[in-house]
Amino acid sequence: MYIKRLLITDFRNLEYVELEPCSGFNFICGPNGSGKTSIIEAIHYLSLARSFRTSTYQYLIKQGQPHFTLFAQVQEDGSEVDTSIGLLRPRNGEPLIKINSDPITRMVDLIDHIYVQIIHPQGVDLLTKSAEMRRAFIDWGVYYTDPEFKQLWLQYRKTLKQRNSLLRRLTPKRRPDCASDYSSSALTALQGDALLTLHDAWAQGGSVFGGGFTELSVWDEAVARLSEQITHKRLAYLERLQVILQEIVGQFLPDFRLKFELNQGWDKGQDLRHLLAQNLEKDRGLGYTLYGCHRADLKIKNNNISAGATLSRGQLKMLVYAMRLAQGMLLRQLTNRTCIYLIDDLNSELDERAQRILLDTLVQCEHQVFISNIQQELHFPSDQSKCKVFTLDRGKLVPHAPAPAPDAPAQDASATPNAPTAPAASVEAAASAPEEATVARAAARAEGAAAQEPAAV
Ligand SMILES: Nc1ncnc2c1ncn2[C@@H]1O[C@H](COP(=O)(O)OP(=O)(O)OP(=O)(O)O)[C@@H](O)[C@H]1O
Ligand SMILES: [Mg+2]
Repeated sequence: MYIKRLLITDFRNLEYVELEPCSGFNFICGPNGSGKTSIIEAIHYLSLARSFRTSTYQYLIKQGQPHFTLFAQVQEDGSEVDTSIGLLRPRNGEPLIKINSDPITRMVDLIDHIYVQIIHPQGVDLLTKSAEMRRAFIDWGVYYTDPEFKQLWLQYRKTLKQRNSLLRRLTPKRRPDCASDYSSSALTALQGDALLTLHDAWAQGGSVFGGGFTELSVWDEAVARLSEQITHKRLAYLERLQVILQEIVGQFLPDFRLKFELNQGWDKGQDLRHLLAQNLEKDRGLGYTLYGCHRADLKIKNNNISAGATLSRGQLKMLVYAMRLAQGMLLRQLTNRTCIYLIDDLNSELDERAQRILLDTLVQCEHQVFISNIQQELHFPSDQSKCKVFTLDRGKLVPHAPAPAPDAPAQDASATPNAPTAPAASVEAAASAPEEATVARAAARAEGAAAQEPAAV
């Protein structure tokens, strides 16, 4: 899949930007603060409705403006018809998301249309920070390669939420006239003046808590069953990914032999049902579930020591690149679909050799790529007919001078120019057709004004 057209209004410092990217490599150049990362961030937001730079979406809205809008026309793999994706995020209130003019209410439906892999300066967090990011890494792959995963994952999320809220309901309130400490490790629940163990309460069919314990056993069973199914899928995915991963890691980091292992979220060989029952008191104290596939982690080790703790910063960056590239390759291999690679600040990230490996691999996979960089002096892929360069200055696209090159070979109009110094067709179009740009902008704003029923995301 690839983005054919992109419209951004009032996002960060980008008041109005219209791009017609090519299906290959799109280089976004410009000085510091010109808005390069903001374009990458806007595409990422269209895929996931969240930023990789901030969790406060208000920071994304151009100062002084009521909302930002993003619009993309996407050519999906294997489809003749384009998909239009529009998103309006007001300063207050819910976002409005539309797919082909139909409002959608669930985030997961958005990620089915634009799938991105992002590589940015904070990318090493994947290896050094919380397990949540590594779980998301694995789940990205499973989600896009296994059609059953989405449903299982949605069911699990719902089930876990139910169990956690029940756990909180089952936690007895302290009675002012009672000296017992219910938050201690004693397995207690209060009935009148008597202390009753949870096991007793369970034996009474949960009547103490209005049948809550009976209900809990239902959620326990569902948590365990879904955890096992999800883990099975994650393991199968990881096994396939390892094959490609080892090969790419071998190119980026030839001196390392890394091991990738899934920690499933509870002790291997233990029955999760048993573990949930055994840890009920702990879970009640915490108000959430300690064991299950939501606690999984991807352990990456070099000589049995965590890679995150031993590799240099540069090596960690290369490892993240290798991992993200491997996912795109496997996606292609298993589904014949491509994704969009967003690479922020390429030169600051990788040395020349690593940049070459990266670009060659991306060329092979035929993914659409957006690369931001301060300079235009980049290692362009050898097939330069699949490159476009966009230059930004203070939030605006800089129109390139038309390319003279009278004896240049004819090129596909949708994939010009072919060198960093040549003009970008879309930039030219925007510069030479201001009326069209104005109309498009008005349309984008009108779309925003028409947003009446906010979507719950
Ligand atoms: N909500 C906002 N409204 C207006 N401007 C903003 C907002 N948020 C950020 N900016 C500005 O947007 C500009 C572009 O930021 P961005 O990070 O995209 O630049 P960049 O081209 O990637 O720079 P660098 O080369 O330093 O990475 C910055 O000048 C920043 O101060
Ligand atoms: Mg930047």
